[in-house]
Amino acid sequence: MSRVKQKYKQDGFYGIGLIHSVKGLNIGTLWRSAYILGASFIFTIGNRYSRQPGDVTRTWTRIPLFHHDTFEDFYSHLPHDTRLIGVEMGDTAVALDRFDHPSRAVYLLGNEQLGLSPGVMEKCHRLVKLPGAFSLNVAVAGSLVMYDRVSKISHAFPGRL
Ligand SMILES: C[S@@+](CC[C@H](N)C(=O)[O-])C[C@H]1O[C@@H](n2cnc3c(N)ncnc32)[C@H](O)[C@@H]1O
Repeated sequence: MSRVKQKYKQDGFYGIGLIHSVKGLNIGTLWRSAYILGASFIFTIGNRYSRQPGDVTRTWTRIPLFHHDTFEDFYSHLPHDTRLIGVEMGDTAVALDRFDHPSRAVYLLGNEQLGLSPGVMEKCHRLVKLPGAFSLNVAVAGSLVMYDRVSKISHAFPGRL
């Protein structure tokens, strides 16, 4: 059997998705950022994807879009040895500027009204938060987390993205 010889500057990948998102424009905007900022896959939990106005890049044609009916199904299909990062405000969340992104990470954002449930947050390996006393729009929050990951990793590994 031949060996894979290709060497990458940095191992790792990330995916990003939403649970029970109700606003198509948010989903589309997040997907567009995900594709442009180098996500390897996107996902929905609960509400299925339908054509989204903000997704002018048609991200689902470029990287895989997974759907899970329930959080339990999503959780049981996490990629091997990959950290689940809940993006949510809260005392136990680490501020984004001090957060070291794991090499293999899946970022999960919450519903526009309710955020992530306590049960879901408990299952996350880490929680990360953005600054501010009020919550941001969910697509903005996700895009900032991706930008933070990309900028920290490309600083450590120039030319990665
Ligand atoms: C509009 S917020 C939900 C707000 C909800 N009313 C609450 O107070 O929990 C929707 C999602 O955006 C993300 N989000 C918004 N602002 C955030 C922040 N400052 N830090 C981390 N996540 C944030 C989270 O994923 C959150 O579940």
